[in-house]
Amino acid sequence: MEHHHLSGANELSELAQGYEKSILEIGFGNGENTAFLAAKNPNALIIASEVYLSGIGSLLNSIAQNSLKNIKIYDDDVRELLLKLPNGIFDEIYIICPDPWPKARHHKRRLIKHGFLKVLANVLREEGTVYISTDWENYAESIEEEVEKSKEDFLFKKISNEGMPITRFQQRAINEGRSIHTFLLTVLKK
Ligand SMILES: C[S@@+](CC[C@H](N)C(=O)[O-])C[C@H]1O[C@@H](n2cnc3c(N)ncnc32)[C@H](O)[C@@H]1O
Repeated sequence: MEHHHLSGANELSELAQGYEKSILEIGFGNGENTAFLAAKNPNALIIASEVYLSGIGSLLNSIAQNSLKNIKIYDDDVRELLLKLPNGIFDEIYIICPDPWPKARHHKRRLIKHGFLKVLANVLREEGTVYISTDWENYAESIEEEVEKSKEDFLFKKISNEGMPITRFQQRAINEGRSIHTFLLTVLKK
């Protein structure tokens, strides 16, 4: 783990200077998409954020098996890290199956909110992108509402997730007969 561990914002800022681009994945779960991104973008720095220990173990296995050299794992709350980073550091951000908090009284805990989208807009470069995928129809509707409030920062469209790996949570949704809703947000010129 030591070699793949990211200590915080200062280390990330220094590391990013040595790469063509920087990509962040938030809540990578078992890391299927992170490993895919790292192999597809060998000249990019991939920052992988997750607090779930068994998932971190799965990604470390995949790093070892596929000799991936461009992944750094941040194992604490990503929201703290994001607030300490300089503006425009990332080219792409991926959030696949953010925790759905399906009960109405818990909806306020959902990650994809107007305020959080503002933080993402700050850490992305001009024309940088946020890829968001959810397997809960009600969350998809609330994402559309939150993005509507962020239209000074982002251009927004619904896209297909074709060509992307299917993650553990997406597979579970498919098995249960639920659909995957995917969005691409592009940072408007600042
Ligand atoms: C529903 S799971 C989806 C995992 C994976 N992306 C997938 O599709 O299989 C959401 C993950 O986000 C992680 N997560 C939630 N909030 C987070 C935060 N603030 N910082 C880092 N990870 C977070 C959780 O630990 C959890 O593993």
